[in-house]
Amino acid sequence: MTAPLKNTDPVTVDVALGERAYDIVIGRGVLASLGARVAALRPGARAAIVTDEYVATHWMRRTEASLLDAGIATSRIVVDEGEVSKSWEGIEYVCEQLIAAKVERNDLVIALGGGVVGDLAGFAAAILRRGVDFVQVPTSLLAQVDSSVGGKTGINSPQGKNLVGAFHQPLLVVADTAVLDTLSQRQFRAGYAEVAKYGVLGDEAFLAWLEVNHADIFAGGAAREHAIATSCRAKAAIVTRDERENGERALLNLGHTFGHALEAATGFSDRLYHGEGVAIGMVLAAEFSAELGMIAEADAARVKRHLAAAGLPTRLQDIAGFSQERIGADALMELMAQDKKVRRGRLTLILLKAVGQAVIVPDVEPLRVREFLARKLAGA
Ligand SMILES: NC(=O)c1ccc[n+]([C@@H]2O[C@H](COP(=O)([O-])OP(=O)(O)OC[C@H]3O[C@@H](n4cnc5c(N)ncnc54)[C@H](O)[C@@H]3O)[C@@H](O)[C@H]2O)c1
Ligand SMILES: [Zn+2]
Repeated sequence: MTAPLKNTDPVTVDVALGERAYDIVIGRGVLASLGARVAALRPGARAAIVTDEYVATHWMRRTEASLLDAGIATSRIVVDEGEVSKSWEGIEYVCEQLIAAKVERNDLVIALGGGVVGDLAGFAAAILRRGVDFVQVPTSLLAQVDSSVGGKTGINSPQGKNLVGAFHQPLLVVADTAVLDTLSQRQFRAGYAEVAKYGVLGDEAFLAWLEVNHADIFAGGAAREHAIATSCRAKAAIVTRDERENGERALLNLGHTFGHALEAATGFSDRLYHGEGVAIGMVLAAEFSAELGMIAEADAARVKRHLAAAGLPTRLQDIAGFSQERIGADALMELMAQDKKVRRGRLTLILLKAVGQAVIVPDVEPLRVREFLARKLAGA
């Protein structure tokens, strides 16, 4: 599909999880309809809005206005911006504030923010009074296409990311694409890596469409809604078939084993955003797949070319200061092993057997990966 798209009505993607089924409503301006949608689903419920300090300055007022217009009483809980809030202190603070706000079993938690707020507020909703409903209002591109879909919630432990959490599906997701206009370019781009991921892992035609239309997605045209809806549909389809990641859901980790190792190697700092690590990780997964003869070199080059065209880093050398640090292949292998993907000395990787067709490869020879990484570190 290469024809330009016109701005249209909101798109609804339904996540068909039986009695836990819910809608993802996507469109420019849909935040204004949040109150009416919530009132229709839970008449009489009150809403506690959890957000972070940055998102609050841009979007709290409009969110509250939409809820109040629909006759919904609100309270607000604002946490610090950033991953630090996904912590034991963060969850304690949010739960205590929810209790202080007298949020009861029939009330709602509204997660207004990026993946940090979504994971934190969703986890608070999962455990408060043994579970209250929550609504996701994702405000980063990453949250709109990834973290708000699928019901994983949680916090980090000092020992690692996302080690404490629960599956808790939202009641509704309202993804207003205009909200992304206040997101930094770099954050937007990082989220775009996850959009491209859906093409690379399962939908070659979508990748081909992205290759033509990516600039319009960044510019905020109608392509943005289409890209987000297609991404949500792709994730929803996988999640409904494998809600608890016993199999296929692992395909969504394409690029993530390499990516997480790079995030860890750079101390989970601003030097490398998650999506940037995923972009480099996806290129590495594609190149390693080519090395194993699973895809052609030209296929791996295509993945790399598209991510680079979108302004994403695609090589280890693109990470600021990385070359000078002389991080070795052994260190990266060690970090990949901590990603729980190693069993009895064999490594599980998500690789490609075609562009648009990822597969779980459970028995990769670690030595082969080590050699590959050593060459990449040397600039190959
Ligand atoms: N639950 C899942 O399935 C899942 C999937 C992927 C990622 N995650 C989690 O998501 C988190 C990353 O999410 P993220 O990238 O959205 O990070 P984030 O929530 O920290 O948001 C990134 C930054 O953008 C700001 N921001 C967000 N929306 C904004 C807006 N509209 N305008 C201006 N600023 C805005 C935030 O304040 C923050 O500074 C990680 O903790 C990751 O583990 C969860
Ligand atoms: Zn990711």
